[in-house]
Amino acid sequence: YLANKGNRRHFMEKEIYEQPEVIARALGHYINFEGNRVDTVSSIDFASIPSLAISACGTAYLAGLIAKYWFERYARLPVEIDVASEFRYREIPLPPESAALFISQSGETADTLASLRYCKGRGLKTGAVVNARESTIAREADAVFPILAGPEIGVASTKAFTCQLAVLATLAIGAAKDRGTLTEYEVKALVRSLAEMPGVMGRVLNSIQPDIELLSRELSKCHGVLYLGRGTSFPLAMEGALKLKEISYIHAEGYAAGELKHGPIALIDENMPVIVIAPHDRFFNKTVSNMEEAAARGGRIILITDENGAAASKLDTMHTIVLPAVDEIIAPMIFSLPIQLLAYHTAVSMGKDVDQPRNLAKSVTVE
Ligand code: G6P
Repeated sequence: YLANKGNRRHFMEKEIYEQPEVIARALGHYINFEGNRVDTVSSIDFASIPSLAISACGTAYLAGLIAKYWFERYARLPVEIDVASEFRYREIPLPPESAALFISQSGETADTLASLRYCKGRGLKTGAVVNARESTIAREADAVFPILAGPEIGVASTKAFTCQLAVLATLAIGAAKDRGTLTEYEVKALVRSLAEMPGVMGRVLNSIQPDIELLSRELSKCHGVLYLGRGTSFPLAMEGALKLKEISYIHAEGYAAGELKHGPIALIDENMPVIVIAPHDRFFNKTVSNMEEAAARGGRIILITDENGAAASKLDTMHTIVLPAVDEIIAPMIFSLPIQLLAYHTAVSMGKDVDQPRNLAKSVTVE
């Protein structure tokens, strides 16, 4: 592979803009669009397992955390998840009839590989959700679920994250179908939403840049940023914070919106922007009330929502980024886009080396 930025300034930017294309390819691998079906043939029998374990590091871990919501909600499958460095030592009582998924862009992360070996040693069926199909994790797992993102060069993961999510969403829907926890009609509706995703991503990427650049100039002056979200927007809030700190070196934290009053609210003042990730979903009103608590303490609110959320929110925010209204299952992937671009443009406007941030490695092969 010849690393080539095309007409982009950085690999990270190129990889962000590649997402509609690579997601379409990843989905095409798992979905039969004509029949609105998921065709996952694998050696993991989701219908018979009592629970699922997931282990990963960094951004891949946050993809796993979002997948936990899907496996539990749609497939009624309890999920045990932890960062690989804890998972491998926690002595989790894992039933040997259950299965475990390991999510890794590189397929070489030392702790994730050790978690895989640990689970194999206990008789669990293992699956690897990987980008590098020739990697050690892919070779050693019983089943391989490629994410087909293509080479990711930027150290901060972007397209691998959304491709991991796309693949995990199809696995969760497939599991729901096999376990009989969703009707055929419900499965078709979810698959139809997934099929719409590349098109929506393209439209979002073509339209939000001016808004994001404006906002990035504000963020680049800050010392700390708080990201809030509920439901699947909570892991996404953590991913937003991770992305920003990785490449801009601005301290950032992602919190469950409902936990705001249990600590981080103490940090809020006019110098601490609060980025609220709130699609107009089941949680919207609750998240908005958390947002109002932050605003009442002088917090400057940046609301990332959709058209329905923007119409419903009365709050005078510092800035609102409005995305198209989409089904709940694809919201995490669509809302990833402004989060990635915000981190990217903030770091660029600060003159940071976004593709090679200090102290970080693309793949960590030591414990
Ligand atoms: C490193 C990278 C992160 C990545 C993590 C897990 O810390 O800088 O971007 O999320 O490793 O890597 P993996 O290859 O296992 O997904």
